[in-house]
Amino acid sequence: MARTLIITGASSGIGAATAKAAAEAGWNVALCARSADKLEALAAEIGDRALAIACDVTHREQIADAIKRTVSAFGSLDAVFANAGTGVAKPGVEQGDPQEWHDMIHVNVLAVLYAAHAAIPHLRKSKGQFVITGSKAGRDHLKGSVYGATKWFVQGFAGNLAEEMREWGGRCTVITPGMVDTPFFDEPKPGKIQPEDVANAVVYALQQPATAAVREIHIMPND
Ligand SMILES: NC(=O)c1ccc[n+]([C@@H]2O[C@H](COP(=O)([O-])OP(=O)(O)OC[C@H]3O[C@@H](n4cnc5c(N)ncnc54)[C@H](OP(=O)(O)O)[C@@H]3O)[C@@H](O)[C@H]2O)c1
Repeated sequence: MARTLIITGASSGIGAATAKAAAEAGWNVALCARSADKLEALAAEIGDRALAIACDVTHREQIADAIKRTVSAFGSLDAVFANAGTGVAKPGVEQGDPQEWHDMIHVNVLAVLYAAHAAIPHLRKSKGQFVITGSKAGRDHLKGSVYGATKWFVQGFAGNLAEEMREWGGRCTVITPGMVDTPFFDEPKPGKIQPEDVANAVVYALQQPATAAVREIHIMPND
C-alpha cells in the first residue's frame, strides 16, 4: 500500500515541489495551506494520489482536522512535512515589529508543535517520520534576525523530537537550506537552490530504510 505524507505550506515553493516529488516517488500526499485555489490546482495536476485540505496551521483544530481527514482518505499517516513558514517585512530587533514577530512565531514555532502533537499518535502506529523545514538561518548567527531564531527553535526541537520518536521506531529530520528560489522572496533567485532540490532531499530522507535515521540535511547554494 502506498504510504501517506501530509505537507504544510504545500501551496507554494518548497512544499509544492515536495508534493510533486513525493507523489512521483509513490506517496499519497495531503496538501495543506490557506490558499485553497492553489492547493486544488496542484492536487488536480498530481491526480488521485493528492488531497487538497485548506488549513491555517496556526489554528490547532484545523491542523488536527486536516490530519484526521488525511487518515480517513488514505488509511494511515506515515509522514509529516511541517514546512509552512513565514518571515517578517521589518528586519532586526530595534526596527522590528512585535506584532509581526508574534505572527511569525505562531507559524514557524507553535504551528510546528501543533502539527507534531496532532500527528504523533498516528505516526506511532506507522513508525512514521516527521520532517521539518529549518534553515541555514537556524545554524548561523544573523544580525538581529528574529526569523533566524525561530529556525534555531526548529533545529533544537527536531533533535529533541527525534529522541522522543526513536523510542518507538519513529524518525525526525530537519532540512536546513540556504537561500531557495521561492515566492518567500519578492525577486526571483535563479542562481540559488531550487525548490525541487529541497524536495529531492525530503524524499531522500523519507525513502531511507528503517535502520537509517537521517537527522539533518543541510543544502547550500553553489553560486
Ligand atoms: N526560501 C528560502 O530561502 C528558505 C530557506 C530556508 C528555509 N525556508 C523555509 O522554507 C519553508 C517554505 O518556504 P518557501 O521558501 O517555500 O516559501 P513560500 O513559497 O512563501 O511558501 C510558504 C508556504 O507556507 C504557507 N503558509 C504560511 N502561513 C501559513 C499558515 N498560517 N497556515 C498554512 N500555511 C501557511 C504558505 O501558504 P498559504 O499562504 O497558502 O497559506 C506557503 O505554502 C518555510 O518554513 C521557510 O521558512 C525558506
